[in-house]
Amino acid sequence: MPELSVRELLDLDRRHVWHPYGPMPGRQEPLVVESASGVRLRMADGSGELIDGMSSWWSAIHGYNHPVLNEAARGQLDRMSHVMFGGLTHEPAVQLAKRLVDMSPEGLEHVFLCDSGSVAVEVAVKMCLQHWRSLGRPGKQRLLTWRGGYHGDTWQPMSVCDPEGGMHELWQGVLQRQVFAEAPPAEFDEAYAERLRELIGRHADELAAVIVEPVVQGAGGMRFHSPEYLRVLREACDTHDVLLVLDEIATGFGRTGALFAADHAGVTPDVMCVGKALTGGYMTMAATLCTPRVADGISRGEVPVLAHGPTFMANPLAASVACASIDLLLGQDWRTEVKRIETGLRDGLAEAASAPGVRDVRVLGAIGVVQLDHEVDMAAATAAAVREGVWLRPFRDLVYTMPPFVTGDEDVARIARAVCAAAREG
Ligand SMILES: Cc1ncc(COP(=O)(O)O)c(C=O)c1O
Repeated sequence: MPELSVRELLDLDRRHVWHPYGPMPGRQEPLVVESASGVRLRMADGSGELIDGMSSWWSAIHGYNHPVLNEAARGQLDRMSHVMFGGLTHEPAVQLAKRLVDMSPEGLEHVFLCDSGSVAVEVAVKMCLQHWRSLGRPGKQRLLTWRGGYHGDTWQPMSVCDPEGGMHELWQGVLQRQVFAEAPPAEFDEAYAERLRELIGRHADELAAVIVEPVVQGAGGMRFHSPEYLRVLREACDTHDVLLVLDEIATGFGRTGALFAADHAGVTPDVMCVGKALTGGYMTMAATLCTPRVADGISRGEVPVLAHGPTFMANPLAASVACASIDLLLGQDWRTEVKRIETGLRDGLAEAASAPGVRDVRVLGAIGVVQLDHEVDMAAATAAAVREGVWLRPFRDLVYTMPPFVTGDEDVARIARAVCAAAREG
């Protein structure tokens, strides 16, 4: 039984608890969730349920309170919830690494398990810098990316988020100065591809890696681009001796209609980051995968180890749930489910295209986006979605959804109606 009334809880929350990108004390009252099941969040104030159009930021692909994932967590809890990973190993971690290697693009063979998406990107960058340092090329320590990206909130990831208009603009001049290309156009443009090749070539001596979100740029603007650019990056990186890092933290595990967005292009990166849906949204865990080439480089150095080892590395509870989540995904016809949601979102969002104030409507896999021609009024847009019985979290000029893969057709239609209402009123 809850010990606090909703009012007491909100007062304490406002006084003591930071929320993402929030001021202290908080200014906007959050909704209090009492429990969640399937695709529905149950509100603690007795107002009923909301369909989750956000999958808890891309992660809850199987919905909430799933019996298979619950059982995986319970079973592991009875064995051990955690042991340190230095000098010890365990079956959940080994099973998870094997599954990740088997399902990810050919050639990625080594897995570093870590705590969150941002840390996975930190580890990826460390791997790349250390690879070149170990090979006697310490000058290769900058990163190249394209504008409009988002890679997390810790230090290295912030340096490759879009420095203008992005979430971390404040830190310009403090963060390491990276090399930025223009944001990728939606369609393939040979002139843009040529500029990318030229930029990589020009900076090759100082570049450790190119890092991008493949096919979908998420929190930097929910923009889609042609997978063909990944082939351009792969070729240019090979030509100029630069590593390629693909950040699949948002796009991985089927979200874009391919298991990994790199699969749309048939490209293997040197390093790949996954997170978010890795545990089906149950708990925090991410992973950085790399090829033997990257690992060999590191092991030839003066310091032949990857000096990274978080306390909760390879947490057995999270690893067990991640294994169960991957088995659940691969054991079903997930492509058909994602396609079904894509069709539902296309149909449901079509009316928004001609609505006043709407700049663009785009859908890819289980992702639907309405881009406005103005900054969204977040409170008004959220309230409009809630009136439709749906939870959405618009930002900047975007009202968007990426529902759990188990969302039924009627609920997808309702989510689309809520996106349209939020776009109209926000
Ligand atoms: C592409 C991408 N990379 C990295 C991250 C950071 O992940 P986390 O929030 O788990 O640190 C995110 C989170 O939204 C993301 O979308």
